[in-house]
Amino acid sequence: MKVIKVKASKNYEITVDNGFQSFDLAVLSKIKGDAVAIITDTNVESLYYDKVKSLLIGKTVFKFVINAGEENKNAQTYISLVNELAKAGLSRKSTVIGLGGGVVGDMASFVASTYLRGVSYLAIPTTLLSMVDSSVGGKTGIDLDQGKNLLGTFFQPDAVFINTEFLKTLPKREVTSGLGS
Ligand SMILES: NC(=O)c1ccc[n+]([C@@H]2O[C@H](COP(=O)([O-])OP(=O)(O)OC[C@H]3O[C@@H](n4cnc5c(N)ncnc54)[C@H](O)[C@@H]3O)[C@@H](O)[C@H]2O)c1
Repeated sequence: MKVIKVKASKNYEITVDNGFQSFDLAVLSKIKGDAVAIITDTNVESLYYDKVKSLLIGKTVFKFVINAGEENKNAQTYISLVNELAKAGLSRKSTVIGLGGGVVGDMASFVASTYLRGVSYLAIPTTLLSMVDSSVGGKTGIDLDQGKNLLGTFFQPDAVFINTEFLKTLPKREVTSGLGS
């Protein structure tokens, strides 16, 4: 396990692990309120949602699943997500967790940065690209019809948890994409 301390507009830690051993310290201890909204996509949900949920002991966990793929990182998905969060009654004290690749991370962090003018955000990146690039730096965003990442904010997470075991299920094409970033 390795912990990297990031100094930005907000200081936070990136924990790199090869399992879930450090999850309590890296994720659970960083959650302030009781309610957690996990935003994930259809592929990652079937692989990792149950495991992550089971580790959020004592929290009320809400699940929001978007269709996988860049074509879904759009305003329609965003509006439907924030409507779902509001319908679930998630308050300012809630925490959003983005569990997935760069598409989920960009979308979930944008939701966290704008819902109720900003709630806590924790990143659990599951692709190589999102581990080495998109989960770091605080850039959030969605695509518009006119182009990629045209709507977004800068918003730092409260923590980033990288579990290299996630890479075992990543399709080869996505590993290559991550190596290129
Ligand atoms: N915010 C930033 O600074 C920043 C930087 C670079 C890229 N990005 C954004 O990142 C996005 C691309 O991210 P990406 O390459 O991670 O793509 P992605 O999020 O679409 O993930 C690629 C595919 O892998 C699947 N997947 C994810 N984790 C998996 C796992 N562990 N096992 C099996 N399948 C898994 C996903 O469901 C998806 O089908 C783009 O939208 C890009 O704009 C953002």
